[in-house]
Amino acid sequence: MSHKKRFLITAALPYTNGPVHIGHLAGVYIPADIYARYQKLKGHDAIYICGSDEHGVPITIRAKKEGKSPQEVVDKYHGLIKKSFEDFGIKFDNYSRTSLPLHHKTASDFFKKLYEKGEFIEKESEQLYDEQAKQFLADRFVKGTCPKCGYDEAYGDQCEKCGTSLSPTELINPISTLTGTKPVMKKTKHWYLPLDKHQEWLRKWILEDHKHDWKPNVLGQVKSWLDDGLRPRAVTRDLDWGVPVPVEGAEGKVLYVWFDAPIGYISSTKEWAEKTGKDWEPYWKNPDTKLIHFIGKDNIVFHTIIFPAMLKAHGDYILPDNVPANEFLNLEGDKISTSRNWAVWLHEYLEEFPGKQDVLRYVLTANAPETKDNDFTWKDFQARNNNELVGNLGNFVNRVVVLTNKYYDGKIPEPAELTEKDLKILEAVKAYPDRIGTLIEKFKFREALNEFMNLARMGNKYLADEEPWKKIKTDPNRVKSIMFVANQITTALAVLSEIFLPFTSEKLRKILRMRSPLKWDDIKNFDSYLLPPGHRIGKPELLFEKIDDEIIQKQKDKLLQTKRDNKSAEVAPAKEMISIDDFSKLDIRPATILEAEKIPKAKKLLKLTVDTGMDKRTVVAGIAEHYKPEDIVGKQVMMIINLKPVKLRGVLSEGMLLMTEDQMGKPVFLRPEKEVPNGKMTK
Ligand code: 2FM
Ligand code: ZN
Repeated sequence: MSHKKRFLITAALPYTNGPVHIGHLAGVYIPADIYARYQKLKGHDAIYICGSDEHGVPITIRAKKEGKSPQEVVDKYHGLIKKSFEDFGIKFDNYSRTSLPLHHKTASDFFKKLYEKGEFIEKESEQLYDEQAKQFLADRFVKGTCPKCGYDEAYGDQCEKCGTSLSPTELINPISTLTGTKPVMKKTKHWYLPLDKHQEWLRKWILEDHKHDWKPNVLGQVKSWLDDGLRPRAVTRDLDWGVPVPVEGAEGKVLYVWFDAPIGYISSTKEWAEKTGKDWEPYWKNPDTKLIHFIGKDNIVFHTIIFPAMLKAHGDYILPDNVPANEFLNLEGDKISTSRNWAVWLHEYLEEFPGKQDVLRYVLTANAPETKDNDFTWKDFQARNNNELVGNLGNFVNRVVVLTNKYYDGKIPEPAELTEKDLKILEAVKAYPDRIGTLIEKFKFREALNEFMNLARMGNKYLADEEPWKKIKTDPNRVKSIMFVANQITTALAVLSEIFLPFTSEKLRKILRMRSPLKWDDIKNFDSYLLPPGHRIGKPELLFEKIDDEIIQKQKDKLLQTKRDNKSAEVAPAKEMISIDDFSKLDIRPATILEAEKIPKAKKLLKLTVDTGMDKRTVVAGIAEHYKPEDIVGKQVMMIINLKPVKLRGVLSEGMLLMTEDQMGKPVFLRPEKEVPNGKMTK
């Protein structure tokens, strides 16, 4: 197994229409990063490729919203996203952009080749057109009712409720998201990839070829697509943002974003090769290469069916070896949502938890949505930090470093005699690289991380059983062996942690003052030691620190505030129209609150006495949770005085005060702009 393998590892190119959040990290970029770091540490020829997906309708919509050009929008988010990845130790070999000329040329040539080979169908059809915006309505430019599940906010490319992928003309009651108008049908020409022609080999490749070990969630989706039967799919759009369609008679048309984006993996590899002086072609053309696409579940069809069909139609390229897709991560029980600001944004996390990238990496891996949707909660984040990182890993390392410094002035002792138990422990250490590695090769990152933590657990148990702090008085020779063994475990942790917790690994290597760049397999092959007796390690330094309730509460409060903001941003739909006659039935007048008192046993109600200018009367208002009587006595308000009296909690209420709500949901009075005589009406 020492044969050097070639790996091309890709992570979904994120759309540059917003910053990245924990869901992105957990679902795609961390697992891919662990996998790539692992293959490299194994000594394989692996590259990790990504970049910004800068085309597509959502970006033009964002640009309109922000009053900017699409280029300005992608420039802003490309920078922000790239920095977030770097900050979290997501170590791409190249992070490119699909707006670069290199990509435009690569995508354009790819299309031309398929065009010339006759791999497309050219078809005129009636498409939705917004007459006001003078634009065809592709993808997210149109909303309507989903024909499958009836959800009335489905987009022209997908229903986010049931996940069905749609085309705009399938929507019931379509509405333009540009102008809110009802679109008309208009003829236009497009190029289609006839997926139906690819159905047969795809089915065989996916379902019969045994070397493909798809994850069950991936297989499930692909199967249902194949069972439904594949249909031709348009790969061009009437849009002015994207890669222009490079054939005659295609003015004003661009490549569909899902046609050009996966080609972005190729252009990013080319860019990497240009920068490093390497050759990109073996990575894409040599059947020895394992091409692995890490993605989220919403991207499955594109990476298992459409992109493979494109690659096959082209003819020069290999097909993916695996497409390990993850499910989604929720946040505190709710779906993560950019538009509702329901997310933990990476750049914000770093501001609030500086230096704690590995804590988030740890929690997101331990809790990754590998087989089903999963939930991120701040409580779990705190517990895993305090119990697992501080309590297990940090605790073990700290004890070893502190005791080595205390007993031996930081020098790893020469073991006196290694007992059977010591030897067993050292043998057990050697088993970890393969145990963890096998799981990683199967994309079981949660279990792999747990195995890694078991090594620290083993170390803690060894120390607890051997009690060097007691034996130092009675049997100092024995302690030399114990601390020798404990230092070997710590060294193994320093190496193996690199794939999960790169910042911690670096810190630990520094603390141990490791100079030789030990690799993954060195941990399973060492003879008597990883760090030799006599090697002087550095001073103790805490790897992790406890996170207090207060800090966690702050994060929870922040989310609570978001919930409130969202709630208050919700506007109830307009009521049915009324006539002027309906309106004139209402008798609305200024009145002054003279007295106010709580109604016993009614938490929400205040009993008010008001002066209407004609009489003094009683009104019951449901505002007791927000106002004390003394806050409102003397205030002039507007009131409907001809509402039929009703009894509330035994008190007769003879009118209604006009109110609205502030953003926190607190009722607020509608009042005359300046003091006016009570009872006055406009004539
Ligand atoms: O879902 C997304 O965020 C897409 N931008 C992913 C593209 S993956 C690849 F094909 F580029
Ligand atoms: Zn639906």
